[in-house]
Amino acid sequence: MCGIFAYAGTENAVPFLIDGLRSVEYRGYDSAGIAVIGGDGKIQIARRGDHKASLENLAAAVGKGHLPGVASGMAGLVGIGHTRWATHGEVNQKNAHPHSSSDGLVAIAHNGIIENFLELKDELVDSGIEFKSDTDSEVFAHLVGRGVANGSSLRESVVGAARRIKGNAAVVALSALEPDTVVGLRVGNAGGIVIGTSAKTDASVMASDTIALLPFTNEVIYLEPGEIVEIERGVIRLFDLEGTPIDREPVRVNQNFEAAKKGKYPDFMSKEIAEQPDAIQGALRGRADFAAGTLDLPEITLTRDQINAIDRVVLTGMGTSLHAGMFGASVIESLTRIPAVAENSSELRYRNPVLGPNTLVVAVTQSGETADTLAAMEQARQAGSPQVVVLEMEGSQATRIADFTLPVRAGQEIGVASTKTMIASMTTLLELAVFLAQSRGAIDSEQVKKIVEMLAELPSLVASVLDIDGKITSLAERLSGFSDLLYLGRGAQLPIALEGALKMKELAYIHAEGYAAGEMKHGVNALLGPEMATVVCAPKNDLYEKMLSNISEVKARGSEVAAIATEGDDTVGRLADHVIHVPDCPGLLQPFLTVVPLQMLAYRTALVLGRDPDKPRNLAKTVTVE
Ligand code: AGP
Repeated sequence: MCGIFAYAGTENAVPFLIDGLRSVEYRGYDSAGIAVIGGDGKIQIARRGDHKASLENLAAAVGKGHLPGVASGMAGLVGIGHTRWATHGEVNQKNAHPHSSSDGLVAIAHNGIIENFLELKDELVDSGIEFKSDTDSEVFAHLVGRGVANGSSLRESVVGAARRIKGNAAVVALSALEPDTVVGLRVGNAGGIVIGTSAKTDASVMASDTIALLPFTNEVIYLEPGEIVEIERGVIRLFDLEGTPIDREPVRVNQNFEAAKKGKYPDFMSKEIAEQPDAIQGALRGRADFAAGTLDLPEITLTRDQINAIDRVVLTGMGTSLHAGMFGASVIESLTRIPAVAENSSELRYRNPVLGPNTLVVAVTQSGETADTLAAMEQARQAGSPQVVVLEMEGSQATRIADFTLPVRAGQEIGVASTKTMIASMTTLLELAVFLAQSRGAIDSEQVKKIVEMLAELPSLVASVLDIDGKITSLAERLSGFSDLLYLGRGAQLPIALEGALKMKELAYIHAEGYAAGEMKHGVNALLGPEMATVVCAPKNDLYEKMLSNISEVKARGSEVAAIATEGDDTVGRLADHVIHVPDCPGLLQPFLTVVPLQMLAYRTALVLGRDPDKPRNLAKTVTVE
């Protein structure tokens, strides 16, 4: 995910900007840039689009903190910096941030996704603006520049631009007409902005992460969505978008790196669960074009003939990645009408599978280093199968085996239990299903447009599920008393039931089994009784009535039932003992919404039982051995 840093102080901003970007580079990036207001009152910009080398090349390019027009030792400089994770537009210097207005009076750095950037770009081009990059973010620079050129203040101009965009944005902005000020803005679920002032030097700073503020202060203010801030030397002014001042007390954060990277969260698990709307956007960026209603996977260069020759899809992974793969198999088969199965890599690698040039193999692996998955991938490579790997950690071994790499771009995941990388993998697999189906003519452009419209809503739908934490906590207290739990699902909800059970196992250390609900009469009913509680995924879909029967069957045998149901459905509430509602949404998106309460339930149960949610016992983040 992109990183942002801004400085308004009493010394040359350049070294602080470089160091600030170094402290957020763990978020992952491929381009870097800074902008300062030089001694001559002009905005100076330096950028590099050199992938992982960008930041060091940038540091070298700006020397010991001098840019043209910035005399050494110049006091009172303000500046912004950005590490970019390529989305709209490839990795190169012109697409790196900061972006400036045509007259050079304004510069901005942006983290987020502007869904309607094409229509805004057309409007700006028609008004005579010449674009220099392929990014959606440059649109924001020109909108702000237009406001400033028309006499509005920088803050007013940033608010004006925010009112024009659809989607979300975390932005920092400079204006040469206000050389002491940096403005910061948050709209939607874009990455955060944290603000602070150094008691020692009077410098004011803001960044995507608390960690970047620690050299200045450990008293920080979090900017919330729908708020804007002006920082100057020793000054922080917070407003809502209507311009009403906001008075917010700073909070004290821990000094250590781990604590700082957690920001306002008590642990990485809760932070990464909360980052899921952002993670979904990361997986959508540069692929789903919300304005045009189209979807493309530039990373997959299979020809149409090669795609039409595919007669089977085998997905493979371990643990949570296998569950994401199972979701992928269901949507790929449903949309492309090609047979698709998901197999555990440790089984696939040893069963001498029949693979070949017409079998597309899709490996799913957050780390790209899981031994069993790598072995299965190697088998597929030797069998001559075209192979895609869906992963978070670019540059890992898996990228050197697969023919095509589809990064999920959730941002580094530190908690051992996978959450945001799973939902980002599911998003990427859904995009792969659409890509394959449209290439084969199995779905037409209208159907693609409908799915892209659904995907545009997905981040905010998932964000709304995150707000149900209160109900989850009381259910967690209840379930923490059980030593055996059963999770049931059908269809696309089966991988979600399996995942919910895995999360409960690995976080709360409670024995939890995920099962196809249709299996109950084939032996599982023997488990039922007051000592076994059951969690049921029962959103409104074509298997809903079957799930109602399962709930009645489980209740009739004395087991307590907690159900995940669709908002407004009170039938389930009459049958189950506990109900967690998720928003109504198209069936295709339901697994994204039902998996989140199950993650939160496992997390809360772990806390009730005093487990460490970030470092579960006996588990490692990456299993590089068999
Ligand atoms: C899931 O929470 C666990 N961390 C584990 O099951 C994990 O999904 C599995 O080890 C696969 O890891 P990978 O995605 O890095 O390949």
